[in-house]
Amino acid sequence: MNLYELAEKTRSYRIFQEEKQVTSEQVREMIAVAGMAPCASNLQRLRFSIVTDEKERNLLFPGIGWAGYITEWEGPAPGQRPSAYIVIHAPCEEKYFTGIDVGIVASYIVLSASTAGVGSCMLLNFTPETVNAVAPAVGYRPQLLIALGYPGETVLLEKNNDKIRYWRDGNGVHHVPKLSLETIILKG
Ligand SMILES: Cc1cc2nc3c(=O)[nH]c(=O)nc-3n(C[C@H](O)[C@H](O)[C@H](O)COP(=O)(O)O)c2cc1C
Repeated sequence: MNLYELAEKTRSYRIFQEEKQVTSEQVREMIAVAGMAPCASNLQRLRFSIVTDEKERNLLFPGIGWAGYITEWEGPAPGQRPSAYIVIHAPCEEKYFTGIDVGIVASYIVLSASTAGVGSCMLLNFTPETVNAVAPAVGYRPQLLIALGYPGETVLLEKNNDKIRYWRDGNGVHHVPKLSLETIILKG
């Protein structure tokens, strides 16, 4: 599979096969890939926590907001929830383009997960207090969560679309519109 095909496959999944555990070892491998990502001045200021324990996952879950455009849906039901999470921590004092670094490592992680058949969803909508209770890190704040699990839903790309809102159809298939190249390339 080339990178274009991997990017096509690497969608945000929000329904998983919860009983099929993504292991800590697998998550460590994803973070090892992220550890090689470029970052501003090579400062490598981000830190990671791995959450696979069921009790800890159950503590994290209620603080997460899923699929803001699908307002009637309250998120994955028991049995369909992520079997692991990564917390990306950034230093409390905001310096050195940390937010950009977070986006880059998160991309490395989700692409790496995808090569192993693991689905993911980056999550900014979470309660920091809950995350701090499960994955405390003095001097750091949680910047992004990544949910991981074996996919339990079909997600379809809708290329060359002029919409941005994703939707779920009557068969439970999740559709993700993406703008055309003509729209996103301004020059050249
Ligand atoms: C920085 C960032 C934050 C996100 N936060 C959330 C979130 O809190 N909840 C959620 O369900 N999805 C979240 N997503 C997933 C986006 O909704 C998703 O990437 C978008 O709908 C496009 O779908 P795709 O990833 O399959 O291309 C986030 C994605 C990014 C990149």
